[in-house]
Amino acid sequence: MKTKVICIASGKGGVGKTSVSINLAVALANKGRKVLLFDADLGLANCQIALGVKAKHNFGHFLAGEKTLKEILVTTQEKVTLIPGASGDRVLASLGTNEAGLIVSSFSELDGIYDYMLIDAAAGLGNSVMMFLEASNQKFIVLNDDPSSTADAYGIVKVMVEDSKKSNKSLEDIYLIPNRVESSERGKHLYAAINDVCTRFLNQPIQYLHSIEEDGQILEATRDYQSVLSFAPTSRGARDFRNLAEIVDDMKDPVVKDSHMNSISGGIQFFVENLISNER
Ligand SMILES: Nc1ncnc2c1ncn2[C@@H]1O[C@H](COP(=O)(O)OP(=O)(O)OP(=O)(O)O)[C@@H](O)[C@H]1O
Ligand SMILES: [Mg+2]
Repeated sequence: MKTKVICIASGKGGVGKTSVSINLAVALANKGRKVLLFDADLGLANCQIALGVKAKHNFGHFLAGEKTLKEILVTTQEKVTLIPGASGDRVLASLGTNEAGLIVSSFSELDGIYDYMLIDAAAGLGNSVMMFLEASNQKFIVLNDDPSSTADAYGIVKVMVEDSKKSNKSLEDIYLIPNRVESSERGKHLYAAINDVCTRFLNQPIQYLHSIEEDGQILEATRDYQSVLSFAPTSRGARDFRNLAEIVDDMKDPVVKDSHMNSISGGIQFFVENLISNER
């Protein structure tokens, strides 16, 4: 079984990417899935803090060649394995060929060990975010029910569509996760509105995944450095993330096609090779 690589992104910051990433990771782990969570918001050690882990080493040590990838992994109480984010600003874009090769072979050692690799991306449309998105099997866009978040979600889909035209890749795998919504009906309504604009102006339909309601317990859990599933298992937030995990786990494998429209399998190795080749 190949590892399914999912990137969690948003146009605007602060809409709940880290909350979705850690809670989905924990919900999948609670179902017995093996989950690798990559804190790719290089700059802020978000996931670590949110899960109450203090990692000795991080992705920066790996990039600097001081530690192997396996040496920097930490496993949380909830049995999620974390690749801690780098605290410096060194990004993948600054890597040389030797380092790039090292990254590919290191990541491919992890391929197949995990059912999922979730990537908590940085906010916005920066190069590294778009690279992570493009290289992932599935792209989850988190947004809130406000005009600027909606406009930014549309913006990120637009850039993905433009990029996919350049690289000749099909894009059937963009999913929306409305977060902090009043009700799931409201979330579906929000999705329908964005899907309508994406279909009309970009000729790119997007998919609805699941809505997460506004729930103070999610905020409380963040303040207590844990997932809402551990902090308040009976809360609405925990329920929404359990349902989200069910849906994600039931999803069919996306068919990834290369520029010759041949189907290619996913997996971490594919993800990293894609990442490195997109960067050149
Ligand atoms: N459904 C929700 N209900 C209530 N509070 C929420 C919900 N989702 C997220 N929050 C809170 O919103 C705040 C921002 O969430 P989070 O850090 O996950 O956003 P982010 O998109 O990762 O931000 P950044 O762009 O800075 O990385 C956190 O305090 C979190 O607890
Ligand atoms: Mg975050």
